[in-house]
Amino acid sequence: MTSLRFWAVVPAAGIGERMQADRPKQYLQLDDKTVIEYTLQRLASHAQIAGIIVAISPEDTWWPSLSLSLNCPLHVVEGGAQRADSVLNALSALSDLVDDDPWVLVHDAARPCLRLTDVDQMLTSLSEHDVGGILGIPVNDTVKRTGLGNVITETVDRRNLWRAATPQMFHLRQLKSALEMAIEQHFPVTDEASAIELMGVKPMMVEGHSDNIKITVPQDLALASWFLQQQGEH
Ligand code: CTP
Ligand code: MG
Repeated sequence: MTSLRFWAVVPAAGIGERMQADRPKQYLQLDDKTVIEYTLQRLASHAQIAGIIVAISPEDTWWPSLSLSLNCPLHVVEGGAQRADSVLNALSALSDLVDDDPWVLVHDAARPCLRLTDVDQMLTSLSEHDVGGILGIPVNDTVKRTGLGNVITETVDRRNLWRAATPQMFHLRQLKSALEMAIEQHFPVTDEASAIELMGVKPMMVEGHSDNIKITVPQDLALASWFLQQQGEH
């Protein structure tokens, strides 16, 4: 149906409990735009993104107040109780829209500092891959495991440890069935890759930049604003 093979899915139906703000964190102001506006504009400005499906909570009163002007089609679906439910709703809507099996990049609304060069890196590394993969950041700190009473029981070798980020890039059909299976099995799906891994297939890790933070707690807002400035967004 479309000559561009990459779609973006943006889960944005969370309440941002840890942010403790007066509104869901994706609607907080970051300099001249809200968090979600930065996120959507970044994705939409990538030449190979054919369109975006955004999942918004049915109780969301903030979404209609945005004045978005994007370079690609945007479709809105209802989010669900968990992030995985929101992503699945978006994937179901996308399967009704397209008649092929495009790559889908799932990207948190709460990550407004995504670099387009990191997206390029993903598309280049994964487009020919059978399964797909995710952006991640190598763990820099020494990692400890503790037992009862916070007693250190082990220093974990950090050499192969990564912090999983988004986008997470998979084929529409495989990701949709993986999430359906994981949800049905009550498997705790914190990211798309874990659902894919549950099917026994092996996604790739693509190294991204550490400024692709997920805005989670109040101090992250100032950090994100600084990163955007450093990236030349202003
Ligand atoms: N998300 C979603 N649907 C849910 C829960 C989360 O679409 N039911 C989205 C959030 O809006 C966010 C992304 O998934 O863009 C990552 O989730 P997280 O950072 O955990 O956001 P919240 O769940 O909103 O925050 P918190 O966990 O602090 O409540
Ligand atoms: Mg959450």
